[in-house]
Amino acid sequence: MDHFLYRDGVLHAEDVPLPEIAAQVGTPFYCYSVATLTRHYRLFDEALAGTDHLICYAMKANSNLAVVKLMGDLGAGVDVVSGGEYLKARAAGIPGEWIVFSGVGKTRDEMRLALAGGIRQFNVESEPEMAALNEVALAMGVVAPITVRVNPDVDAQTHEKIATGKSENKFGIPIAKARAVYAHAATLPGLRVVGIDVHIGSQLTSLEPFEAAYTKVADLTRALRADGHRIDRLDLGGGLGIPYERSNAAPPLPLEYGQMIRRVLGDLGCEIEIEPGRLIAGNAGILVSRVIYLKEGEGRNFLILDAAMNDLVRPAMYAAHHDIVPLIEPAPGVEQAPFDVVGPVCESGDTFAKSRMLPPLAEGDLVAFRSAGAYGAVMASEYNTRPLVPEVLVKGDHVAVIRARPSFDEMINRDTIPLWL
Ligand code: LLP
Repeated sequence: MDHFLYRDGVLHAEDVPLPEIAAQVGTPFYCYSVATLTRHYRLFDEALAGTDHLICYAMKANSNLAVVKLMGDLGAGVDVVSGGEYLKARAAGIPGEWIVFSGVGKTRDEMRLALAGGIRQFNVESEPEMAALNEVALAMGVVAPITVRVNPDVDAQTHEKIATGKSENKFGIPIAKARAVYAHAATLPGLRVVGIDVHIGSQLTSLEPFEAAYTKVADLTRALRADGHRIDRLDLGGGLGIPYERSNAAPPLPLEYGQMIRRVLGDLGCEIEIEPGRLIAGNAGILVSRVIYLKEGEGRNFLILDAAMNDLVRPAMYAAHHDIVPLIEPAPGVEQAPFDVVGPVCESGDTFAKSRMLPPLAEGDLVAFRSAGAYGAVMASEYNTRPLVPEVLVKGDHVAVIRARPSFDEMINRDTIPLWL
């Protein structure tokens, strides 16, 4: 459920008519709903109620300062994957002790940054990384709390580019090697083992792969405890999928996910961390765009929008589906026709949808891409020297631009021409 609904025939973000925002900030723009973000966070929190837990919002999904601050206010921790995300989380008011640091390629500089500023744990992904973190921590005279990310060799049954839990993926250490790696970690004085981490992929639409992975983690917890390690914390990663196509069967709910977690891991007495990103932010955001032209092609019609692949890359990158709806509600029973929905960027990959059935649209009309709150604005670029589109946050009838569109001057002045040229 989200808070982008038609009222009196006009699509609203909570209590605000979206065409009004378009008139104020211009198109394209992203718009997020505080009520939906809050609701999605609470679904996870309620799903794990009664179990010691921390929801570490994966801010890579949507790292706007205001969104991260909202998560912190709700009680979330944050999962970061770069020094930039770490600093941004801190700037949003998240205490270091609530930040977990994931990623296969943390640099020594990033480790120093997080150790100096405070960190809940590093999720370590390889033995060379373990050695580097030990060195950095010892040089700083501190001890780094760690989990080791294990790769359970489970097929997440999702798009190949976002599956991370198979042995051929670059992530984690093979679970078969875990006991040896933990034994080694225990000998390193700069590290303190606090638990185990696993994350098998994103946009999972069934609980089965999660359950397969978590069962392996439960077995490993017992084995590591028998080896004498303290395993107090299990970081179960993110990955629960969202319904991108309203016509399709919905993925499992956070409540069902929570029940499964309790069933598989509940008797271990561990604190549970999860790192959801997409489910919190995805359906809490839309991308609003204007029709520039309708163009008749050979046996097809193109709807040319002012948004492009640089603003929302998911369709070009993962052949992802985003529902597209007009801001003015079509009359009931109106006849739909197929359109190829494209942007103005100079490559054929700049296609949002092929043969998408849409109601009649004309030049100047406004449309919204649904489910664009996660991996939308954060993956945008200025390709074709197109400015990053603004982000707008709505709460009830409050509206705020939470990232402004850069001016062309700002964009041009970021480059410099060397004096010797
Ligand atoms: N934790 C770790 C270690 C991750 O790598 C990720 C996502 C998450 C948590 C959050 O997963 P989520 O709950 O959002 O599924 N750009 C792609 C998605 C990439 C996901 C990368 N890792 C897309 O647009 O589909």
